Amino acid sequence: MMRRLQLLMWTLAVPGMLLGARQLANAQLGSAGEAQATERDHQLMMDQLGIRQLRPGPSGDESAPDHANYDESKANPWPNWPDPLVLNDGRPVTSARMWRHLRRPQIVEDFEREVYGRVPANAPRVAWSVTASETERIGRVPVTASRVIGHVDNSADPAISVDIPMMLVKPAMHRGPMPVLIMFVLGPPAFPAPVPPSPDVVARMNAAMKDALVRQDPSLAEFFRTHPAWQPIATPPFFPPPRRPDDPIQQLVSDGWAVAMIDPNSVQPDNGAGLTRGVIGLTNRGAPRKPDDWGALRAWAWGASRAYDYLATDPDLDAKHIGIEGVSRYGKAALVTLAFDQRFYMGLIGSSGEGGAAPFRRNLGERVENLTGSGEYHWMAGNFLRYGASEARGGAKTAADLPVDSSELIALCAPRLTFISYGSPAKGDALWVDQQGSYMAAVAAGRVFRLLGAKDLGVGDDYQHAQMPPIDSGLLGGELAWRQHDQGHTDVPNVQYFIAWADRWMGRSPPGH
Ligand code: GCU
Repeated sequence: MMRRLQLLMWTLAVPGMLLGARQLANAQLGSAGEAQATERDHQLMMDQLGIRQLRPGPSGDESAPDHANYDESKANPWPNWPDPLVLNDGRPVTSARMWRHLRRPQIVEDFEREVYGRVPANAPRVAWSVTASETERIGRVPVTASRVIGHVDNSADPAISVDIPMMLVKPAMHRGPMPVLIMFVLGPPAFPAPVPPSPDVVARMNAAMKDALVRQDPSLAEFFRTHPAWQPIATPPFFPPPRRPDDPIQQLVSDGWAVAMIDPNSVQPDNGAGLTRGVIGLTNRGAPRKPDDWGALRAWAWGASRAYDYLATDPDLDAKHIGIEGVSRYGKAALVTLAFDQRFYMGLIGSSGEGGAAPFRRNLGERVENLTGSGEYHWMAGNFLRYGASEARGGAKTAADLPVDSSELIALCAPRLTFISYGSPAKGDALWVDQQGSYMAAVAAGRVFRLLGAKDLGVGDDYQHAQMPPIDSGLLGGELAWRQHDQGHTDVPNVQYFIAWADRWMGRSPPGH
């Protein structure tokens, strides 16, 4: 039964980037028991921090009385954001060296302690092994698709097992080491284009199956004799159904890239109850978190870093050109990955919103108070809850008390390739994600890119008055890039721009160009 269920889940797996927010939210809901365990864990963290009351976050439902603000004139209650180029002691950061040795570590420390949590020193080792591999065709491109399982060493607590299935897809006719995009997907990543059996093999399978059925239940023989046309397994079509022309995997492999898909949920469950399981639970041996322990976003990013470790050992792949991609909550995780792990060369950060590229200090759409509620707090470090507290030991705090903001998270990615992607509110990339605020944050991060010799968006530094360019007109001239496409809560329409932009920085000419 379990196996069959697993099989079904493999079959149903779809890249997360194609899923809507509702499906993601459903996946997160879990059972009633999980919901209660989440509430208990949330309360436990409030108790640890002496928080008596949290401010409720605004509603995402525009018809609700407590709905989020969407009025730009009220969106900047705290217009001055922390300066990425001033040290904690007030000295200005004037060189790349000062940034690397002094300022960057300060910002990292603040994000780790207050926002996303720390990766513990005892984070386990991951042993990767290929469990299945075949040659498939994606469109016209032959690829080698391999299922690679990352087994997380759970000797610290054998009751908690964590295995990370990864699907690695490489174009078979590649030249030279290939760039790789690690993509966060929802559900165990499936083989992209499983090779079906030939009609001859299907016929043998059907004969064998009928025999087996008759052995199990001899009365079925009569049906098979009187209805010889019916076959348990239908012959698969000779031509597989065409993929969408904008299918990201197809675009990437056609351009000579490899793709590696992992499901964040295999690293760390997407709810508070799960914090005593997954890799976070494993390092705590099933005990609840301490206030500066890592949250799910950091754990997901850790999973991507472990995938990186494996990919960097594959001689077909170019370890210097490995990227990370994700949308929505996985867009946040992609940004966290790129920000903390400097081995990553590039990132496609899709509709990441609050906790991602959107500034905590803005009041538009989702707010800090949504992240500190029991539905999302598990993404963050426990300490982050203090910024949503109205009554607490040490007093109330707001977003304005955070030592850092999202502009500095983007700055941590500098000078590496950072593509901030959003869609159109009219098409369903709701204002909830605060596209405009995220643009301002990207502008504010620009000084750090330039200090490190990279190009930013090229629109100046006045983040407080920066206005997003129109939809479909990207700012793709620098290592820091911005593009808002005309579709919904997805990054698919931006994938072609991402590929062309990254190819240019890598100095590659894709096959056939
Ligand atoms: C909610 C949440 C967002 C998140 C999104 C998603 O809308 O408030 O922060 O990005 O779900 O991941 O689908």
